[in-house]
Amino acid sequence: MDLAHVHLLLNHVPVIGTIIGFGLFVLGLAGKSNDLKRASLIVFLAISLVTIATYMSGNGAEETICKADQPEDPCADKAVSKTLIQDHESAALVAFAVMELTGALSWLGLWQFRRLAHVPRWNLAAVFVFSGVTLLLMANAANLGGDIRHPEIRAPGTAVAAVPPAGDPPFARAVGETVTGTTWIWPSCETLHFIGLCLLFGITALVDFRMLGLVRGVPFQALHRLLPWGVLGFGVNLFTGVLFFVADPGQYTQSPPFQWKIILIVLAGLNLLYFTIFDTPWNLDPGEDAPAIAKFVAAAALFLVVGVMFCGRMLPFLGDSF
Ligand code: HEM
Repeated sequence: MDLAHVHLLLNHVPVIGTIIGFGLFVLGLAGKSNDLKRASLIVFLAISLVTIATYMSGNGAEETICKADQPEDPCADKAVSKTLIQDHESAALVAFAVMELTGALSWLGLWQFRRLAHVPRWNLAAVFVFSGVTLLLMANAANLGGDIRHPEIRAPGTAVAAVPPAGDPPFARAVGETVTGTTWIWPSCETLHFIGLCLLFGITALVDFRMLGLVRGVPFQALHRLLPWGVLGFGVNLFTGVLFFVADPGQYTQSPPFQWKIILIVLAGLNLLYFTIFDTPWNLDPGEDAPAIAKFVAAAALFLVVGVMFCGRMLPFLGDSF
């Protein structure tokens, strides 16, 4: 199984997942059901995490299909067009960015629900708009993905050049060239990536050490207020990490530590749901010992976040990056 298989396995999840999430959300609003609203926010969050893997496996699929040493027509062996692939990549990048914003707003809504016993109206309005836009953008990206192998669904008269015109790269490639071609962007992103990592690991360690029996005097409700800072760190790292990736996908896609990093990021994000919404940690008062399930989830969170950092650090050593 290569990354083309992985991409084909995952590439309908963002579209179908967003349709399901949006449907639940609209039903929740119409029926004034907090349970349905929360369920839809969980779906949006989960889909936004899986979309990270969907997006990144796309570049792996491209490398499986196209050959760098055939610049005239790199994908001729598989009878597909590099132009169509890169148009799809560009649409996917925009859809991916808006999907991640929807996921972040959804997480915030779940966090606010825990604290305030309701999701504020501004958040619901923002989730409605962003998830609706995500749905349209994802459908467009998926349709352009279908165009690659299915001439029968292409708009009549679509001209299919083997490669994009020189000097006019599609959006995602233009972003990549800007990142590699502008001296200050890469080092600035590295700096921000480290700041994000400190925030993420710092908050994860505080919450998880409390669950595992240290700093027992602190009630969980106090730690819960810190979670947005950890998620902000995650967001900063996702944003800067995607810029690294878009700049030079080829140095990451086939790298085992990178592939593990993405798997661990998705799992760490899902794991965070426990401390965001579940009742068991929420009821922990000062001095109280956490139940076994909370300890297990805390140990798993530490393992996953340390694993993400380890795989990131090992990119040049166990993979071929840089
Ligand atoms: C949000 C992210 C993405 C979504 C939802 C998505 C969706 C899709 C869909 C629906 C298909 C058509 C599958 C079929 O023919 O049945 C496809 C194919 C494809 N996508 Fe993506 N894609 C995403 C990101 C990317 C990226 C970033 C690239 C990088 C260039 C990419 C490269 C490809 C390639 C090469 C194919 C053809 C695969 C093959 O037929 O073997 N995708 N994608």
